[in-house]
Amino acid sequence: MEKHINITTEVDVTALVVAATRAIETNGDDPLFKDHLAAEFIRAAGVADVFPVTPEQVGQSDNPEGIRALVRVAALRTRFLDDYFAEAGLDQVVILAAGLDTRAFRLDWPAGCTLFELDHGSMMDFKQKVLDQERATCDRRAVSIDLRTDWPDALTEAGFDPERPTAWLAEGLLPFLPPAAEENLFDRIHELSAAGSTVAVWATAQDIRGADQNMRRTITDFGVDIKAMTNTEPRQDARERLTSLGWKVTESTMDQLGERYRRPQRNHPVTFSPLNSDGGRRRHGDQPHDKRRPTADTRGPEPPGFHAALLFRKGRPAERLP
Ligand SMILES: C[S@@+](CC[C@H](N)C(=O)[O-])C[C@H]1O[C@@H](n2cnc3c(N)ncnc32)[C@H](O)[C@@H]1O
Repeated sequence: MEKHINITTEVDVTALVVAATRAIETNGDDPLFKDHLAAEFIRAAGVADVFPVTPEQVGQSDNPEGIRALVRVAALRTRFLDDYFAEAGLDQVVILAAGLDTRAFRLDWPAGCTLFELDHGSMMDFKQKVLDQERATCDRRAVSIDLRTDWPDALTEAGFDPERPTAWLAEGLLPFLPPAAEENLFDRIHELSAAGSTVAVWATAQDIRGADQNMRRTITDFGVDIKAMTNTEPRQDARERLTSLGWKVTESTMDQLGERYRRPQRNHPVTFSPLNSDGGRRRHGDQPHDKRRPTADTRGPEPPGFHAALLFRKGRPAERLP
């Protein structure tokens, strides 16, 4: 099997960053989840010299604290969203901008579960080559689309049933979308969701704006120009949009997740604060670390209002949501 495939679009590289953090967590002591395919993706993309996949490699890197901070966030987010699907218990699932998400292979799904993964064709093609020998634990259907355009038609053609309650996930997607595409995304999700559906959202454009500069620079060190890729134009917040359409929302902060999964902030500090200026623009092959920049700081918990995760639920007709 051809394993060395080039990732063709810049945005796809962000999925590799996430895969690397999942590999590091998987290879660590007492991981919050196990994703054995994560390191496979790094190898298959031919970027094993850029992305660490073990805690030992992190320890030998130029920026171990920054990477550990990133891994903590990614691990809490992955585990929390794994639990979201288990708690939702729904047998129709749509993972928007799935990237290198392997939940279709890692999690126990309800009998007869159909799981749709949506992302760019280049991402889906790359992913499939790695997954060829793997067996999904559900009926997994890959849908190649651009989420800025008319993705609902492609989803319906792939067999999505709007009459079945659906568990949706938008994890690490919204910062890449222009405001109109994000607003359209939630309107379409609303239209396609039967009562009893749920939506989980992680990371909005506002969150990226507020993420501390160490975190963004750690990502930039991997050769991902996160600042240039993300769109932080003002937009209606996901929470406002869906609650105005009648969905009930619950919010979890990083502090709460750290407590729930016993990964307190003090071990690997990351802060979220008003936007700092950040000029770092590294590419693969550049010197990996600017020695002048500060290491991960210890400014304490993120300010109230920063939402790590938003979970929405659409009520059934007879149900009055408080
Ligand atoms: C940071 S990665 C997150 C991937 C995955 N959700 C995870 O958490 O591992 C962002 C993903 O969004 C996808 N993406 C960004 N803009 C997109 C668009 N307009 N249409 C489809 N996918 C998009 C990228 O291809 C990439 O896989």
